[in-house]
Formats: sequence, structure tokens, C-alpha cells
Amino acid sequence: MPPSEPLAEPGSIEAELLSRIDRSRLPRHVAVIMDGNGRWAKQRKLPRVEGHRAGVAAVRETVETAARLEIPHLTLYAFSVENWKRPRAEVWTLMNLLKEYVRKELETLVEHGIRFEPIGRWRELDPSVVAALERARAATAGGTGMRFDIALNYSGRCEIVDACRKIVADFAAGRRVEIDEATLSASLYTAGQPDPDLLIRTSGEMRVSNFLLWQIAYSEIWVTPTLWPDFRRRHLFQGILEFQRRERRFGGVGPVEPPATDARAADG
Ligand code: FPP
Repeated sequence: MPPSEPLAEPGSIEAELLSRIDRSRLPRHVAVIMDGNGRWAKQRKLPRVEGHRAGVAAVRETVETAARLEIPHLTLYAFSVENWKRPRAEVWTLMNLLKEYVRKELETLVEHGIRFEPIGRWRELDPSVVAALERARAATAGGTGMRFDIALNYSGRCEIVDACRKIVADFAAGRRVEIDEATLSASLYTAGQPDPDLLIRTSGEMRVSNFLLWQIAYSEIWVTPTLWPDFRRRHLFQGILEFQRRERRFGGVGPVEPPATDARAADG
């Protein structure tokens, strides 16, 4: 969608939802567990991979909408460490869809000023995938708009293990390290980013599935029955409206603002 097009057609459901969103209280970070591709395909008697193929359109619309709303950080969970258990052909299709997505969407990402970063053990993926991701990272590095992360070969537990290894390596190299929450946060793949304010999961499943385990300690969770390939702009608006209805207490008794982000660099 060209940046000049309106985010919602006048008189549409989207326009009505958008008019109710308080733009001064947007979530700073939205994280999404994209689920239900297999079920979407099964309902249509199609192979599972067709669900993933259809899911790419939902990725495209979600990324562009979030960027245009000026949500500062968006993280999508695309492939977990556990997903290697799937049939080889399904994994192969997912990797190809990913390469195709970054190739086709690069121009749009740049146009919207989006900074793209993969997170997870993505450097262990096939060299052709790593090269496509590196290209997209390099091309969007100067983006001053939304930071868009895709979690790939990702596991929340592995992320915490990798953070601990990094801290130990820093210590072994003679650097001064404090073992505290700030050091751990700054050693995660998401170093320097605010924790997700809103975690969206599609397909009605009530699980966090090893996603951003440390970072979602106080996230508001919104589960929608919509299957990922059907997820569109209106669903993102609904999730944001639901977030804005919640009273966040962070363990206290009244509504409070989220704690300030620890913005130290990963190697700080
Ligand atoms: C979960 O649905 C979805 C995934 C494991 C992959 C998500 C991938 C995409 C949306 C497409 C490619 C991604 C990008 C970023 C271009 P599931 O297969 O577990 O669904 P099910 O629970 O109904 O079986």
C-alpha cells in the first residue's frame, strides 16, 4: 500500500475502529504469535503449506499497518527452534516464503523507513536464507521508522541461555559485569528495545509457546480466534483497542506507566 493511501476507507469498519484508537497511547512494542496457518488450509482441504503462503499477505498488511500507525516496535514469530520437527517439505516452503517475502517487500520496507532485524539463531539457517536476511538488514539499516523484528530459529529459553553465555564471555574477557535484570535484558536479542506492551496470538490458543519469555513478563495478552491467514488491519486495530482498555498495574495497585526501558546496547 503506498504511504499516501488512507489507512482506512471512510465509512468502513476499519475507519470506525481507527477513530477509537488513542494515538497518544499506542503500544510501544507489539509482538505477534502468528498461529493457525495449518488449520486455515485444512478447513479449505488444501495442503498445510498453502496456509503459510496465505499467511504472507497477513504479514505484509500487519507490517505496513503497524508502521503507518507509528508503532515503534513490531516483532513477529515466524519460525521456532521447535519447528524443525515439521516435515522437511514444510520447513523448506517456509524458508522459501521468507526469502521471497524479504526480496519482494524490501522496497516497501525502505519506503516506510522500517528497520528490519531477524532475531533468534537465524545465522544457523541455510546460507541462502542468511544472505537474504543480511541483505534486508543492510538495506534497511538507515530506517528511522518502525523497528521490525522477525523471530527465526527462535526460542525464548535459547535466548536466555545465549544471554547468559554472552555475560560469561564478557566476564571471561575481563569486562566488569553486574548480574542483574538490566544486564540480562541488555544481553538478549531484543537489547535496547522496550518489552512488548501487547502480545497478540491468533487462532485462539492460550499459550506463549516459548516466545520472548523474559520480555513478556508484564505484557497485555490478546488472543483472537482469527486464524493467521485471515488476520487483517481491522484485527490489529481491535488488539490495540483492547490494549487501551486494560489497566496496567505492574504489580502495584493503580494504573501506572510501563517502567523505563533499559536502553543499553547489547554489548554495553
Ligand atoms: C503457525 O501456524 C505458523 C508458522 C509456524 C509459520 C508462520 C509463517 C508465516 C506466516 C509465513 C512466512 C513468514 C514470513 C515472515 C514471510 P501452524 O502451521 O502451526 O498452524 P496450525 O496450528 O493451525 O497447524
